[in-house]
Amino acid sequence: MGVKRIIAKVLGRAVTWNKLPFGTAIVAAAGSSERMEGEDKLFADLCGLPVLGWSLRALEASPNVHEIIVVTREDSIVPTADLCAELEITKATKILCGGEDRLSSVLIGLAEASPDAEYIAVHDGARPLVTEEIVADAFSKAYKYNAACPGVPVNDTVKRVSDGFVTDTPDRSAVYAVQTPQVFSADVLKAALHNAKIKKLKITDDCGAAEAIGIKPAVSLGSYENIKITRPVDLKLAEAIIEARRAK
Ligand code: CTP
Ligand code: MG
Repeated sequence: MGVKRIIAKVLGRAVTWNKLPFGTAIVAAAGSSERMEGEDKLFADLCGLPVLGWSLRALEASPNVHEIIVVTREDSIVPTADLCAELEITKATKILCGGEDRLSSVLIGLAEASPDAEYIAVHDGARPLVTEEIVADAFSKAYKYNAACPGVPVNDTVKRVSDGFVTDTPDRSAVYAVQTPQVFSADVLKAALHNAKIKKLKITDDCGAAEAIGIKPAVSLGSYENIKITRPVDLKLAEAIIEARRAK
């Protein structure tokens, strides 16, 4: 029996040790799936469950997450509520209508986060293969460094290109592909996203907004399997990954 459990026993009551800070997960799911050739990727079938269902289940299972806010398209609000009910996503407290771009959608979710939220994760609804380990490591790095994003070293050589010609080649060992969930202390995320909105910054992820206010996000555990469903081929890849996981 560990020391903490002995003390709990002596005290004769339940004692909660190392209580995790209140965490909110904002799920960005209000995009128009243009590169999916007409199919709403969030509700595309992936091994028997909609893509969004997989993402929600992973966040529901995370002890770091206490509340889930889903930001979706207007016509998906009811189907999203039905999905949450069907999958028993008990942490989903709000389903909101998103904005014109991803930043606006995340800001809409952020405005509705619980005042108790100490850490906020932003996750792409279109990233269904995220695991509990990836979520846990992003939160634990954010507890320490205020901002964190899962990342993996790029496999391909990356070139900077201008007008169809290569201008330079960044050192590949220093280039990472980053994923979601990206996790922030609540104050950092609020300051970063409002600054990005006011200054109309062209950011493609939330860490980009944090970097613009001088924050240095930590890179947390990522995975080559934590892909974003962007094009039809990604659904096929995701299916193969799930089948391989099931066969283990
Ligand atoms: N997203 C959002 N609100 C927007 C745009 C995007 O919540 N106005 C979400 C998407 O639903 C997705 C995530 O942000 O889960 C990542 O965006 P992306 O993969 O680009 O999805 P879409 O914008 O839907 O796809 P496309 O760019 O091909 O239209
Ligand atoms: Mg997009």
